[in-house]
Amino acid sequence: MSQAKVPAGLDRKEAEIYLRLDPERLPQHIAIIMDGNGRWAHRRHLPRIAGHRAGVASVRSTVETAARVGIPAVTLYAFSEENWKKRPATEVGFLMTLLCRYLKQEVPTLDRNNIRLEYIGRQHELPPQVRERMQWAREATAKNTGMVLTLALNYSARSELVDAFNSLVKAAASNGGIDHLLVDEDSIARNLYTRHLPDPDLVIRTSGEMRLSNFLLWQLAYAEIYVTPTLWPDFRGQHLLEAIAEYQKRERRYGGLVNPHHGNGAVTHNNGKH
Ligand code: IPE
Ligand code: IPE
Ligand code: MG
Repeated sequence: MSQAKVPAGLDRKEAEIYLRLDPERLPQHIAIIMDGNGRWAHRRHLPRIAGHRAGVASVRSTVETAARVGIPAVTLYAFSEENWKKRPATEVGFLMTLLCRYLKQEVPTLDRNNIRLEYIGRQHELPPQVRERMQWAREATAKNTGMVLTLALNYSARSELVDAFNSLVKAAASNGGIDHLLVDEDSIARNLYTRHLPDPDLVIRTSGEMRLSNFLLWQLAYAEIYVTPTLWPDFRGQHLLEAIAEYQKRERRYGGLVNPHHGNGAVTHNNGKH
């Protein structure tokens, strides 16, 4: 296992976990389902929104730690299309306010960490003032060349696939008709909201729920799944590093066979010969 020195800015606990990691085998893209804000608040006899508010510190810590250790891409499931449609207007309104505040406050920190912001989800359904703030924050960080932080806002994986298929059909229609419709894995992936990203290597879900809740269904085909009972407002950079440590213990096979001589993550392709 190769060991680099501890990156600047990690706290003692993070540094301790980092030293157990192999810096050559970090996940290139980590997706996180940030769940458990309501339960965190409930346990403290607080309103649900207090949990959402507390979750902002978790985002800050997780994002900074990911950037410091050199993760190229992080995608955060901030709220789903279902959340937007099925939760009370007061809660949705609070989430919008929190998002706008986060974007305004966080841009200097994102800049300092060389992080570029992106979004996935049906943005056109969001209120105009929220969209303006989102656009402002994206432009403000567009020149950054380090980690890509993608926020999933009003996101649904099924809607993403529907949008991708529709754009393929439209492209064919304006380019010679249905005979020019090309549907294969590459053309679908190129039309997903995540076309700027590699597929996630690792998906983390907090609060113990064992489901994907309509998140990146196409892209997570071969992701390692890590579920922690920790509620999102209690999650910090050190928990992210623990998830990466667990990821590095997994054997990734992609349907192939693991070569015992190469150890973790090495896959043999025998071209069908046994
Ligand atoms: C996750 O926390 C945040 C959002 C979905 C916006 P929840 O609000 O789902 O919290 P629980 O699952 O009720 O605890
Ligand atoms: C998934 O959490 C969405 C986000 C974390 C943004 P939910 O709390 O909405 O998921 P379910 O309803 O438990 O599946
Ligand atoms: Mg939830």
